[in-house]
Amino acid sequence: MSIQYEEKNRLFVLETRRTSYAMAVNGDNRLQHLYWGEKLPYASDYTLTAVPELASQESTLDVASLEYPGWAGIYYAEPCLKTTFADGVRDVVLEVAGHRVAEGAAPELCIELRDARYGLAVELHYRIYEELDLIERWVVLTNGGDRAVAVESAQSAQWSVPGNHSYRFTHLAGKYFHEMQLRRVPLTEGKKVIESRRSNTGHHQNPWFALDRGNATETAGPVWFGALAWSGSWKITAEVTPFYEVRVTGGMNDFDFGYRLEPGAKLETPAFIGGFSAEGFGEASRLLHRHQLTNVLPKEHAGNLRKVLYNSWEATYFDVSEKDQGAIAEKAAAMGVELFVVDDGWFGQRHHDRAGLGDWYVNPDKFPNGLKPLIDRVHGLGMDFGIWVEPEMVNPDSDLYRAHPDWVIHFPGRARTEARNQLMLNLARRDVREYIFDFMNRLLSDHDIQFVKWDMNRPISEPGWPELPADRQKEIWVEYVRGLYEIVDRLKAAHPAVVFESCSSGGGRVDLGILRRMDQTWPSDNTNALERLKIQEGYSYGYAAKTMMAWVTDNSADWLPLSYRFHCAMMGSLGIGGNLHHWSDEKLAEATRLIGDYKAIRHLVQEGLLYRLLSPGEGKQTTAVQYVAPDQTEAVLFVLAVHQSNADPLPPVYLQGLEPDRLYRVDGQDRPVSGRSLMSQGLPVRLEGAFQSRLIRIASV
Ligand code: DGJ
Repeated sequence: MSIQYEEKNRLFVLETRRTSYAMAVNGDNRLQHLYWGEKLPYASDYTLTAVPELASQESTLDVASLEYPGWAGIYYAEPCLKTTFADGVRDVVLEVAGHRVAEGAAPELCIELRDARYGLAVELHYRIYEELDLIERWVVLTNGGDRAVAVESAQSAQWSVPGNHSYRFTHLAGKYFHEMQLRRVPLTEGKKVIESRRSNTGHHQNPWFALDRGNATETAGPVWFGALAWSGSWKITAEVTPFYEVRVTGGMNDFDFGYRLEPGAKLETPAFIGGFSAEGFGEASRLLHRHQLTNVLPKEHAGNLRKVLYNSWEATYFDVSEKDQGAIAEKAAAMGVELFVVDDGWFGQRHHDRAGLGDWYVNPDKFPNGLKPLIDRVHGLGMDFGIWVEPEMVNPDSDLYRAHPDWVIHFPGRARTEARNQLMLNLARRDVREYIFDFMNRLLSDHDIQFVKWDMNRPISEPGWPELPADRQKEIWVEYVRGLYEIVDRLKAAHPAVVFESCSSGGGRVDLGILRRMDQTWPSDNTNALERLKIQEGYSYGYAAKTMMAWVTDNSADWLPLSYRFHCAMMGSLGIGGNLHHWSDEKLAEATRLIGDYKAIRHLVQEGLLYRLLSPGEGKQTTAVQYVAPDQTEAVLFVLAVHQSNADPLPPVYLQGLEPDRLYRVDGQDRPVSGRSLMSQGLPVRLEGAFQSRLIRIASV
């Protein structure tokens, strides 16, 4: 049983294959966290220790590690819940009111906390993914009182790890064109906050974290980690109290947050998944990857290999037309491309980024006969057809804005600040949701389209929702994201065969919330392979390679070999984005060969277990990543070096994840060797000169 409750000690123990998580109800009827980490053998290992007497300047509640602290009493640490009741009382006192268990493939525990005086119920949900050592947490608030409650913060979860003063916080930071950079900082007393206030997931921080005690490696040591499933403003706070309790609290950002909970109404928070690995960061990532492939990605396409894609953006920008795209499609198909995507520029008066967003009719000058002739031609070439949209936005220079200036997010009487010459439609509004659903539904019903790239090219500003009373306008933070999810869910239900890609000027919307609805993401507009290697490495900490689109474009084509750029992009779901008119016959032939190589190994990249062997950010600036079939019968290794000389060659690459006693044949080697040898003796990889790379296949004999 993965969920146990011991009545005598009012103790809850959640067990996965290798971990346990324990809580107990204390003498004040509060739910207190006891333990999370490597599985402990006995119930008596979990004890509720009384908080010692502290000086009057200290807070016993801060030290007690409540499982889901409401802001109440002498409490200064990060709370999970903050409310104002109708009579002005602003503390929320949460006592345990009961619990229930639901058995199933992923068993669930629900513990009900309650502020009895106001009838506010807080259900803490825990879903256990036993095999993956993961626990998914979320909270449902229900106002059982007879007056509205103003919710000022409702976090998804607080994760407590065993107390210590040497924790290190790992996270993914960056900016536009430079997303997903791996950062590691020691935690000291106080808080380290990562967040988005932008109403998208954000390029600057990603809602993923890991904690270790400063000494975990890729292969060893305890690592606690988590990821939030929310595509709007979010916040994750890692906190060390003065007495070295260490906690990570996360959920919808409480900055400018406000949600009025009417009597009988509910508010459900996004899910926050957490896990523990005793085998370092590599295993932590693999658990999350597997979770995404089996439990997160939309079921229709989760088990399908992602097709090799062509995208027009970097090749032709807004200059798309039936004739020219058709000509490129011919070349793409000949190379082995399987999905042809027309990016921005096909609709409205979209000749540049100053006009057209919102007007979703096919531009008659560029496509005089509509999209159908191009779609037919692409299908005739044996490829699927895909299209770019940016449904959440409007250019002021558009028919839509001229007709509905009130549909954009704004504060009346204030400037409507533009970014990339565009404003955001208010997806919290019902009429806006219907408008977007209708045109998207029409686009997908009237055309034989297999793929949608859904873009979002600016963050929010002046977040007003003037149609609502002043005390409810902050609900826009929640309702905008709900609107987005609702539209995508409806479209997916109406068009289940269509594959969706999440893009927000590159990697601004990569999170477990969007991956529940969209099948893949575009991690960055930066297609320089050298910089991309670091973006891809960071991405791999939180997200599966199958979800990561990677294109070979003309970026750095004059100095980075084509094979190097391909090998970089082959470490995710491969795409091509160069202007094929400019590619020589030799280059097209080489690309054709490389696409063939990719098709032979993509099942390993997209569905295998990922091992980061050498990091582009360290030492010799050599990247080595290995993908192993779940049954360990085959693997593929990518090695990409910035520069290697004869005088100082690369040490052997030590493989991982193979079966020790199995014999494997390695590309280019005559005699098979054991998995143990490849892991203990390593594999010599000779690369001489600048920007050399190899793709090496390893197959069981
Ligand atoms: C930003 C995306 O990241 C690009 O790939 C491209 O689709 C442009 N938007 C189009 O405007």
